[in-house]
Amino acid sequence: MPEPRLAAWRDRIDAALERALPDPDAGPDTLHRAMRHAVLLGGKRMRPLLVLASGELAGAPAGTLDAPAVAIELVHAYSLVHDDLPAMDDDELRRGQPTVHVAFGEATAILAGDALQALAFQVLARAQAGADVRVELLHTLAVAAGAAGMCGGQALDLAATGNGGGMTAAGLEQLHALKTGALIRAAVRMGALCGGAPATVLDALDRYAAALGLAFQVRDDILDIEGDSRVIGKTAGKDAEQDKATFPALLGMEASRARLAELAAEMEKALAPFGDRALALRRLGEMAIRRDR
Ligand code: IPE
Ligand code: IPE
Ligand code: MG
Ligand code: MG
Ligand code: MG
Repeated sequence: MPEPRLAAWRDRIDAALERALPDPDAGPDTLHRAMRHAVLLGGKRMRPLLVLASGELAGAPAGTLDAPAVAIELVHAYSLVHDDLPAMDDDELRRGQPTVHVAFGEATAILAGDALQALAFQVLARAQAGADVRVELLHTLAVAAGAAGMCGGQALDLAATGNGGGMTAAGLEQLHALKTGALIRAAVRMGALCGGAPATVLDALDRYAAALGLAFQVRDDILDIEGDSRVIGKTAGKDAEQDKATFPALLGMEASRARLAELAAEMEKALAPFGDRALALRRLGEMAIRRDR
């Protein structure tokens, strides 16, 4: 997959996010600025890129993918704002910038997260798709964001914090599958839904997405140990400091890397039937595993 294509998709996503976010000069301007801070100042855009890549594979018209791409990134950005709050991970650096609660105060950060989530569903409800597909997109994102998805995973993460080593490997995989995997699976599914993909394609892409989601968080756990704060854009070493349930803490670095290799093979196996149509998804899978930020 030549890099320029992903770069063009990133530009398209950034422009759509800019259009979706509220005017920084209109009131309530503090809230609007906090929302824009959370979304526009960096980020790899992995989840919207997955929407575009799976949508392309499934033959979705490009215009139908903008709404789900924006919506998934808005939910992701909200999850980061709340994840960084003092009551959760208590982080001061995100995407190389002060976290939203440091820049705007805690109450505004809570509201900005709430408003970003609402905006996500507002945008998705106007997706350029048939009514049946639109309802399925809304349902997919709602399930992935809620107690059966990201929020549920965050609850498991908080319950395990301070007792990072006291989990089974299966329990940790479940935690990661919910807190990070759920939104990543939703991204891939939404793209495919926009292309009217049949159940067999949805299932194969879901196996790819589940492996990618877990790999993405295993790599995140490794980067918290080996990464440089200036490169990862967040304070390294926080997981060990807070005794978080992470792959390296529970299984060690070698086993964590071995799991990444297994997950790479699972992704490849799931994508094999699609041949060259899966080039972009393959490239995003590699990025999840090899990324340094
Ligand atoms: C960070 O996600 C939180 C995790 C789920 C690991 P990303 O690594 O995708 O963060 P950004 O969007 O690029 O900042
Ligand atoms: C957060 O996981 C996943 C979310 C649902 C936001 P982490 O707490 O490991 O993410 P970072 O390291 O702060 O980005
Ligand atoms: Mg966290
Ligand atoms: Mg965190
Ligand atoms: Mg982390």
